[in-house]
Amino acid sequence: MTPQDAPFSIAVGAYPTSASGPLHSKPRGLDEPAPPLLRVTDLARDYPLPRAGLFTPRAQVPALRGVSFQVTAGRSLGIVGESGSGKSTLARLVMALDTPTRGTVELLGRNLHTLPAAALRAARRDFQMVFQDPYGSLDPRQTVERIVAEPLHMLAPAPRAQQRAQVLQVLDQVGLRSADADKYPHEFSGGQRQRIAIARALITRPRLIVADEPVSALDVSVQAQVLNLMQDLQEHSGVTYLLISHDLAVVSHLCDEVLVLREGAVVERGTPQALFSDPQHPYTRALVDAVPRVEPAPTGTPTGPL
Ligand SMILES: Nc1ncnc2c1ncn2[C@@H]1O[C@H](COP(=O)(O)OP(=O)(O)OP(=O)(O)O)[C@@H](O)[C@H]1O
Ligand SMILES: [Mg+2]
Repeated sequence: MTPQDAPFSIAVGAYPTSASGPLHSKPRGLDEPAPPLLRVTDLARDYPLPRAGLFTPRAQVPALRGVSFQVTAGRSLGIVGESGSGKSTLARLVMALDTPTRGTVELLGRNLHTLPAAALRAARRDFQMVFQDPYGSLDPRQTVERIVAEPLHMLAPAPRAQQRAQVLQVLDQVGLRSADADKYPHEFSGGQRQRIAIARALITRPRLIVADEPVSALDVSVQAQVLNLMQDLQEHSGVTYLLISHDLAVVSHLCDEVLVLREGAVVERGTPQALFSDPQHPYTRALVDAVPRVEPAPTGTPTGPL
């Protein structure tokens, strides 16, 4: 078994039992160990290339080539890799927005890709996504209240007042005000828009949030604020993150373990500390070298405002 094939468990321990939802209905024997929140096994996705000629068979691009890992509830796994390494393909497959060529995605022991459509729709409350682009991912014609409430629409209909109360609660959780519910996306900064996107992901009280480059469109100072917010939310709610970034420093901020993806395959995995201090794969070393370092100021350097 190569290190790439080894099952990747980022922590041991049971997932919190307080949460409820459609994926928790499966009874479990007392001595049966809790399944990991998320288990991805040998996941692969080939995309067909355009035909070169009328009678030539379509070639396939392997975007993901057999990726396996597990994530325990309440922990975070980072996925890093350069552009085109398969990160978003992995995110779409985990979110069941695309179908794998082979392999499985199990959330609390249930294979998302073989669930009947109605069961998958109900299960979606347990896993939500935050996208990279806080400008493109929020409909400019809708109020924040409607945007944030959107994931509730696939669940049982609730009275409007109850829905608004839920929206105000999650806006408060992400540091926005009640009055913001009636505004439109253009009235917010990039960082605030990403808070709105996080509120939308939180509203169904998901067990898993897949965040695909959630801060790469933001200024560095705002990046830290959004990552700190995600960390605080995790401490309060026990939500699990699958955090995707091309930047090793970003995932190190939030993740217990990191998986390095290159050309659709895992080339290295470990804690952020281990990857930074002793990267084994030349590609990981290149990612480490790409992280800007802040050199300590020489002694005697004035530190007052510039
Ligand atoms: N729908 C699609 N059809 C054909 N090829 C695709 C499709 N989606 C992705 N690919 C190809 O799969 C590979 C992986 O793409 P993916 O978007 O997963 O990379 P990524 O790591 O998210 O890159 P980035 O950092 O630029 O977002 C690329 O070669 C891409 O061109
Ligand atoms: Mg991508």
